[in-house]
Amino acid sequence: MHSEIIILAAGRGVRMGGGVKALRPLGGSPLLAHVLGCARAAGARRIHVVHGEGEDSVLRRHCDLRGVNLVAQPQPLGTGHALMQALPAVKPAATVCVMPADAPLVRPTTIRRLCDAAADGLAILTVHNPDPGGYGRILRNKAGKVTAIREARDADARERAVTEVNTGFIAAAAALLAELLPRINRDNAQGEFYLTDLAAAAVDAGHDIADCTCDDPEEAAGANTVAELAALERMYQRRAANDLMRAGVTVMDPARMDVRGELSAGAGCTIDVNVVTEGRVQLGNQVYLGPGVVVRESTVGDGSRILAHSVVDGAAIGNGATIGPFARIRPGSVISDSAAIGNFVEVKNSAIGAGAKAAHLAYLGDSEVGDGANIGAGVVTCNYDGANKHRTAIGAGAFIGSGAMLVAPLTVGAGATIGAGATVTKDAPPGKLTLTEKRQRTVDHWRRPAKEAR
Ligand code: UD1
Ligand code: CA
Repeated sequence: MHSEIIILAAGRGVRMGGGVKALRPLGGSPLLAHVLGCARAAGARRIHVVHGEGEDSVLRRHCDLRGVNLVAQPQPLGTGHALMQALPAVKPAATVCVMPADAPLVRPTTIRRLCDAAADGLAILTVHNPDPGGYGRILRNKAGKVTAIREARDADARERAVTEVNTGFIAAAAALLAELLPRINRDNAQGEFYLTDLAAAAVDAGHDIADCTCDDPEEAAGANTVAELAALERMYQRRAANDLMRAGVTVMDPARMDVRGELSAGAGCTIDVNVVTEGRVQLGNQVYLGPGVVVRESTVGDGSRILAHSVVDGAAIGNGATIGPFARIRPGSVISDSAAIGNFVEVKNSAIGAGAKAAHLAYLGDSEVGDGANIGAGVVTCNYDGANKHRTAIGAGAFIGSGAMLVAPLTVGAGATIGAGATVTKDAPPGKLTLTEKRQRTVDHWRRPAKEAR
């Protein structure tokens, strides 16, 4: 495609309570990132982004703008004015496609189709929307030719009844845009230069309008209000769920899962309700994510099961492991094959060996747990002395009795057994039983305090 794309992202988002609208998240990444992704996938030769004055650094912080030409629009004087800012940077022989930054569900194939249509004049992407709301209306003459686009605010009752609307995407030869832009003015309800006035300007100047419709109204859905953004989020998530289901993933309820980032899933995976994935998440084959599970920036190996209400963050889970229910795996953790991390167990920055088990109520922080070790209920690695963090190494096949406090830095040898309730402050040798005895005593003639009479 020999086209340059201009993305309009300088609007103030006043209908959303301010802030940089193009950075509002959809599926965990900014609206602008989605539109940029589409522009790149469509094969744009160059991409220009028109942004609000002084907003370039915040855009750079949140979006990958490598290779993108940033153009400031000093004042938000309308979509037509935004295009005027960027057009001088475009090669005169190029075809230009204009994309609004707030319509993130458009498909690259649609953009390519629109650019192709620009060979025949000013190409306008329209869509039929039975509920046309605030969208610009497409006005046609008796012969069916487009004569103008009328903004909803400027439309009379008859025009407002039109259900064919402007998507905000147009394409044309740069030279045609350069010819038409000086012909638009601010004589309208908002006192802005409307991009949409290019349609009537083209007709006046005797140019053809090459209209091009898209069948899926979602592609044109714009986020102007918080409610519209929420509706877009549901559309986006429905697409994500459909993609997963097409790839053979069992999604228990496509309306109740959220992918905020990139999720890849192997064959035979099952995603139960209310699962949220964030960032880059990779699931192997036959992985099960239970209800309410949150997985962030992690990999989960074949056949592993993350049970209800567990949080897995920045971790690598091996094959055939079981996590949860109600477990929390924190960044820097590696859970090896067939390990089992049970309810109310927190693991942080720790390597848990193959087949090791921590089934109930434990904290494993800055530790290494050897293969096949068994961590009893209530075991705590006391990794923090109030100033520094220290490591605990637990050898393969060790058995840590319930309620043991392992005061780091500490090494428990392979095959060692630690008695229940021990407070271990010195290294425990391999293969032996280590206890820190607390004498048991029974007090005769002791009575429980009775409630005082009032
Ligand atoms: C625009 C169209 C409308 C169409 C709708 C589709 C105009 C005048 N109207 O309306 O016909 O149905 O999109 O979604 O074009 N922007 C700037 N600078 C500005 C103003 C806007 O860069 O001065 C950017 C915004 O950030 C946004 C895009 O242009 O990304 C569209 O602007 P917006 O205000 O959302 O236009 P709509 O009212 O939705
Ligand atoms: Ca809009």
